[in-house]
Amino acid sequence: MNRPFRIAVLPGDGIGTEVMPEGLRVLKLAAARHGLPLELQAFDWACADHWLRHGRMLPEDWFETLRGFDAIYFGAVGWPAVVPDHVSLWGSLLKFRRDFDQYANLRPVRLLPGVRGPLAGKQPGDIDFLVVRENTEGEYSSVGGRMFEGSERELVLQEAVFTRHGVDRILRHAFRLAQQRPRKRLTAATKSNGIAISMPYWDERVEAIAAEFPDVQWDRQHVDILAARFVLQPERFDVVVASNLFGDILSDLGPACTGTLGMAPSANLNPDRRYPSLFEPVHGSAPDIAGQGIANPIAQIWSAALMLDFLGQAPGADAAAGRAAHDAIVAAIEQVLRTGPRTRDLGGHASTREVGEAIAAALGG
Ligand code: NAI
Ligand code: MG
Repeated sequence: MNRPFRIAVLPGDGIGTEVMPEGLRVLKLAAARHGLPLELQAFDWACADHWLRHGRMLPEDWFETLRGFDAIYFGAVGWPAVVPDHVSLWGSLLKFRRDFDQYANLRPVRLLPGVRGPLAGKQPGDIDFLVVRENTEGEYSSVGGRMFEGSERELVLQEAVFTRHGVDRILRHAFRLAQQRPRKRLTAATKSNGIAISMPYWDERVEAIAAEFPDVQWDRQHVDILAARFVLQPERFDVVVASNLFGDILSDLGPACTGTLGMAPSANLNPDRRYPSLFEPVHGSAPDIAGQGIANPIAQIWSAALMLDFLGQAPGADAAAGRAAHDAIVAAIEQVLRTGPRTRDLGGHASTREVGEAIAAALGG
């Protein structure tokens, strides 16, 4: 590909605006060193200020404006003192995920050096897996309703929706990811012993898609015991694929097993590349520490690494360069975690900026 990747930058609210400059610092440096040209454009959308000025989180033409970008690099949205959370989230981030068909949500889970995780006796290397969540259908549907409201007969229904299109594409994506990893293992979360219609269907599709990937070793686990094993035997896992609801829970539990929220990155992918994919830290805008310059920028910086890896895999782009840029950023994060400086959530005293600069320096900047 001989044109630059076009990236829309949306810092959002609260610490989103503090960690984003550090993300950009490292992103630009890594991209330049690995020959991945970028064209960045910032938008002051998806924040409480925009809502105060315009009465909405995004302008009316947001879809047309953003759809031509290769990626959205996102900070965090939410300022509940000004805008109710359901308004800010549904008015911005959730629109991106839906309307840009970002059906694969990826959250890497790794225990990194120098971080005391909550699980006793685990060393870096013991925990290294990837949660892949279906992001568009399943249990999170708008099919249903209420009847006889307020009466004794009050009735509430909400249907889970599983389509062959939706299930097959997330499974294929997860198997492909497993195939690229050294251990080549995949675990599918199910609950076919209790949810006796949709989950047996999910299981059937897992088997069918697995046949396309004979080199991937796979198994299936009920989500209750699977969740317990995240805590008891995290070494078992490589790629874990799950429906929307199960994936939502597992993708918070996974990163929680490795330490602070301030380090967990995520990708919301439209793997078909018809629309931009979105890369963001798992954490929110953290109003409790916003404005102090003490937020941990690692989740934002690691999300940039995921973005370069994904962009590099575009048809005609340089996949090796994207992967190398990713690996270099993760190695720089690991180095700084080993030596410091560290932000307060990791027991240090450094500022957001000092950590960002140290990671840039470790990259050779
Ligand atoms: P939060 O993730 O913002 O904060 C939870 C706790 O973790 C806080 O104590 C915070 O100080 C700490 N924390 C989070 N990120 C940190 C970082 N980088 N460094 C150090 N400490 C960090 O979740 P909370 O408080 O539930 O939500 C605050 C706002 O963020 C709400 O408006 C919520 O809707 C929004 N939110 C947005 C998300 C997004 O944009 N993807 C995701 C989660 C929440
Ligand atoms: Mg969640």
